Amino acid sequence: MAREKLLGPLGESHARVDAPDKVTGATRYPGDIALPGQLWMKTLYAHRAHARIKRLDVARAEQTEGVVKVFTARDVPINEFGLIAFDAPVLAGDVVRWIGEKVALVVAETEQQARQALDLIEVEYEDLPALTDPREAMKVGAPVIHPHYANNVLKHVPIRKGDVERGFAESDVIVEGAYYTPMQEHAYLQPEAGLAYLDEEGRVTVQVAGQWTHEDQHQIAHALGLPDERVRVIYPAIGGAFGGREDMSVQIILALAVWRLDQMGIHRPVKTIWSREESILGHHKRHQMWIRAKWGAKRDGRLLAAEVEVIADAGPYAYTSTKVLGNAAVTCTGPYFWPHARVDAYAVVTNNIPAGAFRGFGAPQGHFAAEQQMNKLAKRLGMDPVELRLKNVLREGALTTTQTPLPGGVVALPQVVQVCARAAGWKATSTERHVADENLPQGSTSTRQPLATGYGFACAFKNIGFSFGFPEGASAAIELHGGTRVERAVLKIAGAEVGQGGHTVFMQMAAEALGLPLAQIELVASDTATSGDFGSASASRSTFFAGNAIRGTAAAALQKWRDEERPAIAIYRYQPPATENFDAATGRARPNIAYGYVAQVVEVEVDTETGQIRLKRVWCADDVGKAINPQLIEGQIEGGVVQALGYAITENFVTRDGHVLTPYFSNYLIPGVLDVPERIESLILEFPDSEGPWGARGMAEMPFIPLAPAITAAVHDATGVWFDELPLTPWKVWERLHERSYTPHS
Ligand code: MOS
Repeated sequence: MAREKLLGPLGESHARVDAPDKVTGATRYPGDIALPGQLWMKTLYAHRAHARIKRLDVARAEQTEGVVKVFTARDVPINEFGLIAFDAPVLAGDVVRWIGEKVALVVAETEQQARQALDLIEVEYEDLPALTDPREAMKVGAPVIHPHYANNVLKHVPIRKGDVERGFAESDVIVEGAYYTPMQEHAYLQPEAGLAYLDEEGRVTVQVAGQWTHEDQHQIAHALGLPDERVRVIYPAIGGAFGGREDMSVQIILALAVWRLDQMGIHRPVKTIWSREESILGHHKRHQMWIRAKWGAKRDGRLLAAEVEVIADAGPYAYTSTKVLGNAAVTCTGPYFWPHARVDAYAVVTNNIPAGAFRGFGAPQGHFAAEQQMNKLAKRLGMDPVELRLKNVLREGALTTTQTPLPGGVVALPQVVQVCARAAGWKATSTERHVADENLPQGSTSTRQPLATGYGFACAFKNIGFSFGFPEGASAAIELHGGTRVERAVLKIAGAEVGQGGHTVFMQMAAEALGLPLAQIELVASDTATSGDFGSASASRSTFFAGNAIRGTAAAALQKWRDEERPAIAIYRYQPPATENFDAATGRARPNIAYGYVAQVVEVEVDTETGQIRLKRVWCADDVGKAINPQLIEGQIEGGVVQALGYAITENFVTRDGHVLTPYFSNYLIPGVLDVPERIESLILEFPDSEGPWGARGMAEMPFIPLAPAITAAVHDATGVWFDELPLTPWKVWERLHERSYTPHS
């Protein structure tokens, strides 16, 4: 009984249901799966940032021993894909627009034969001018990269509230800043891989690691010119995602190969595994952004007016740029109330690697600028940054810059700010120091010890779900088996387990909704053939959407059970309140259904002799609405903090003319175990969201968002220097501290 109680209810830290197989190595990831008779596929990439293909000859490659077939653009029935827009070619036709553009696919008996044949494909290119700086690409008269996007502007979000000129005129202080946030690589453990075949019902089937089975299915079907139901997508196991698997990698090319081979009378599975270098070059990156901000406030700290320009580098195709830009536009003024605001956010087409989803969807970039501005303002006013925030955070009923209130009941911004500050001992340890440091001259490190300690504060908000008018929803099915009492319940749901613990939480919620012990719940997941569309495992939406879908399905199944159907089978689709896209002129919108709120205090140690920054301690207060599984939430907080530490300090994604100079983990440095802070304190708050299941709101992205600006604030606290661009690599820090010929990111 005790065990059942432990396993059943929400709020228990049940061990992950996928843990035993992952720990023992029994779990098979897409690259581990082999089928009899399988062929191997390798991809030829352009390795050119922008060029016209003048000649493409695959004859020699095709005649090589072991090669079964080489595919090019001519073999793709409808040669386009994309999540937001079908604007990217599956295989390049006449033009390549980035280095990772796929030009040809070799299918051979062995992986080595496929790889060797790549060298025998003859391609003649005529290089075209490569535009790799979005600020140049958006200028009038710049060459147009993509025929869909005039002036290379993929999307412009204007937000207009009040009268910013009046706001600045009435302000006592003005703070201006220019910020740069870099690209970031997802660096999941498992590089892209997959296996495709025709299943017993003749469906083109792809086993792959992704985030959204039905979107993969839809994009594959579109490119192949097939109805969706002729395509099946299965996620066997997924080795991390973080947004990096939101868009297509190997899905369409595997399906294309199997489908075309089948038409040629070759009925064999096709497999591919990307190397780490292919993974880093082949999937999108976090958007690099240039953000200019001008904020005005009264002497008492009240914010009056914000004017912000955001320029996001989208790369050549849309991917999820419109969603990312929307979040950057909403968050670049921070989680604060503004009487007057003017935001212009642009996603600009370039010949860099496509940019797309990455934990936070534009909110980390927006908040980096916003929280730097806020911390600078606190300095200027001689005010405690926590007190300044409490004066300005959005509260229930307050209108955001898009002129609508935040939904969901309690807006727990004051709570996360206060709880975090209190837990960190902010008042006792930091206030005096923060205020006293105001008069330190820039770079005055000579009178200090080489190791300087500092504390920083930042907070954030972010939406849950795809938002901005996207038709959101999530489907689930439940079967109840048994006679007089339910003996077994099967939950069928497509939601992806990307390592976050989603499936465990789904099962806990199903147990709760059905009133059964967890041991009686059986999960059938992540297969388009067994479930309806769940939507994506992203945007902090899985728990929120799964919970609502499961509650609705469970209620329907229990009703059928009471009506004596055996088995009782219910299918249900949860649809949340509709959201709105930005008004084209003013940005006015009800863009989101729910939000998460987070605040962080960090302690850093700066080695002023080497420029090395060590993140020592982190306090993270996160309003999750309802903690379904507290330990998994702690896991998200700790993982998010470490991933954001990479973004802030160690990860330096270097490109030149559209080429990547850091395609290996030997020169792109993700945090190692020794970089992990000594202490990460998770402070979990539960102010229920009115639309969330049992009050739960999403939280997966939140702990990432405020970390970078909290670190830069702490570095300022330690050294007196503001760093307005990431990452804080040792050379950059050292040069600024020693005031040598430092040039900011051009
Ligand atoms: Mo993640 S950016 O929410 O896929």
